[in-house]
Amino acid sequence: MAKNFDVVVIGGGPAGYVAAIRAGQLGLSVACVEGWKNAKGELALGGTCLNVGCIPSKALLESSENYEKLQHKFSEHGISVKGVEFDIGVMQARKDTVVGKMTKGIEFLFRKNKVSWLKGHGKFVGKADGGFQVEVTGEADGKPAIEVVTAKNVIIATGSKARHLPGIAVDNLTICDNEGALALPAVPKRLGVIGAGVIGLELGSVWRRLGAQVTVLEALPAFLAAADEGVAKEAWKAFTKQGLAIHLGVKIGEVKQDKKGLAIDYTDAEGKAQKLECDKLIVSVGRVPNTDGLGLEAVGLKTNERGFIDVDGHCRTLLNGVYAVGDVVRGPMLAHKAEEEGIMAAEIIAGQKGHVNYDAIPWVIYTYPEIAWVGKTEQQLKAEGVAYKTGSFPFLANGRAQGQGEPDGFVKVLADAKTDRILGVHVIHAHASEQIAEAVLAMEFMAASEDVARTSHAHPSLSEVMKEAMLAVEKRAIHM
Ligand code: FAD
Ligand code: NAI
Repeated sequence: MAKNFDVVVIGGGPAGYVAAIRAGQLGLSVACVEGWKNAKGELALGGTCLNVGCIPSKALLESSENYEKLQHKFSEHGISVKGVEFDIGVMQARKDTVVGKMTKGIEFLFRKNKVSWLKGHGKFVGKADGGFQVEVTGEADGKPAIEVVTAKNVIIATGSKARHLPGIAVDNLTICDNEGALALPAVPKRLGVIGAGVIGLELGSVWRRLGAQVTVLEALPAFLAAADEGVAKEAWKAFTKQGLAIHLGVKIGEVKQDKKGLAIDYTDAEGKAQKLECDKLIVSVGRVPNTDGLGLEAVGLKTNERGFIDVDGHCRTLLNGVYAVGDVVRGPMLAHKAEEEGIMAAEIIAGQKGHVNYDAIPWVIYTYPEIAWVGKTEQQLKAEGVAYKTGSFPFLANGRAQGQGEPDGFVKVLADAKTDRILGVHVIHAHASEQIAEAVLAMEFMAASEDVARTSHAHPSLSEVMKEAMLAVEKRAIHM
């Protein structure tokens, strides 16, 4: 007899595993279908984020930043180290250990919350009494093993995969997407990157810090178009000073490969023919939703023209009882957005009022300096005709930032001209990822800039820069 669950979640990334844990917490019987295999051929939970995304990229960012600091930053503290070296094998092994700890941690959380892990590929095969049938194709003794389970509710959380470009074959050895780019066994002498987006900048930074000569080719004429213009300008200065060569407004042509390496033909912003020669290439031009072999047609669902599954503001599909969450639906492809949606879907299924505030989802780019924001950019407010006030404050005037030797960057606040409600906060600084949390909380509680400006912030701390930027909205910053 088919196993029957209240909820079956298809996909065990941040959207799916979090949905499954929350459903388990709420007393629902729940299974999560996931068949991801890591490079060692072991089944692993955690999806893109834990296996080939957020976690391994941040591990390598940390290792490479430590190496760079040791070479260039410690001398100002009077600490000198001679003969600094690194071992890429150890660095990669450390990254794999971090990933392994995190993915195994989810197995533990599944056991704790009574989530059954169905190991394999999930596919809708039809409807059952008041619910759905999901076929799971796994492996037993090296052979395919198929079982069909039924569920009153299904949460689709199948995530996304790297977008590739026509004519540029990714082998993840010489031409890499995120998977190969995180696993290079040696530092390439010359690294080409197509796409100056989040992956291009983060992984471009990793390999540059370790010694590669990195050239980034970006199609758009503007740098970091999604960020606030003031921040993007500051970031451009920092990255180009560090030695990242970034060419904007390019059009990629043919990519040729021979024994000497790769040659990428492109036209530059002036329309002139150019060639980039490199040893390895990262293609980081966005991601596409993943619905391969999901059998949507078996239950009367389909994807939209961009490949996403259409959902409403509560992640409900057109089909009663079927939800879709995370990268496979509209909105930013971010792990924390995926998690919030997973929780919302599980709570709605349990009869609660799940909710996601899409206006308060932060973005962080983990470069040096880090770039973080929440809410609107100044250019968005202008385009929308919203009357706003701004306040900015530099880390240069903050004692903790000076003590840490990290005085570059600023916090910029955008507040409604009439009500003073915070509309957007933008931070560029070495530790922006931690500071943005305060702004997210403030926006979640619909705070005015004055609310944060009147809140006591510990001294000396980087958080004082947030307070001062909020004070600056009414031109009353104290330390400037
Ligand atoms: P995924 O994590 O893609 O998980 C989907 C899962 O579904 C996969 O495990 C897949 O095997 C499984 N699956 C698919 N189809 C089926 C099926 N039919 N049956 C069973 N299982 C199936 N976001 C951040 O917020 N912060 C970061 O720092 C960050 N860094 C990133 C760095 C890189 C290099 C990359 C590539 C992405 C990064 N992201 C980051 C984005 C983040 O990884 C995604 O937004 C997040 O993983 C989306 O979660 P998800 O659960 O929707 O999808
Ligand atoms: P992206 O969307 O961030 O950037 C892709 C870039 O490639 C864009 O600037 C785009 O204009 C450019 N591009 C597209 N086609 C091109 C072409 N033919 N030639 C040259 N340039 C081209 O996508 P990316 O970097 O691949 O990352 C995918 C997603 O993963 C991100 O959008 C984000 O959602 C997520 N991510 C999040 C991270 C974080 O939160 N810190 C880190 C890494 C990834």
